Amino acid sequence: MSLRAAALLACALSCAAGCAAEEPAIAQGRELFVHGVAPLPACALCHTLKDAGASGQIGPNLDDLRPDAGRVAQVIRSGMGPMPAFTALTDEQVTTLARYVSTVTQAKP
Ligand code: HEC
Repeated sequence: MSLRAAALLACALSCAAGCAAEEPAIAQGRELFVHGVAPLPACALCHTLKDAGASGQIGPNLDDLRPDAGRVAQVIRSGMGPMPAFTALTDEQVTTLARYVSTVTQAKP
């Protein structure tokens, strides 16, 4: 499945209501969060994030942590404790993920 098709599918599954109005970058961020970029494990495996339908228990619950985009980008690049550094992600993917996580957690307290 192409990234775009997967993003559309993830979008259709998780936001049947207001998806058309959603920023494409948010759908891309959700797709990266849920499915990751092979061979790295997906964020969703380890983290809970309601918007992504993720309930991982290994890392902190991101709905509670509500990290800003800079903090997310930093930990994706450098890793932290048991969390690996996601060095295979492009800068654009890191930015997309960081914006996604910070946006969906700040917008829904
Ligand atoms: C293998 C499990 C695992 C995966 C996969 C993983 N994380 Fe983590 N993550 C953790 C753990 C564990 C911590 C807490 C580390 C600590 O507190 O020492 C953490 C911490 C974080 C933090 C908090 C950083 C801070 O400043 O406190 C954020 C944000 C985060 N992860 C986002 C992500 C994102 C986005 C992805 C996907 C690119 C991801 N994680 C993938 C396990 C994981």
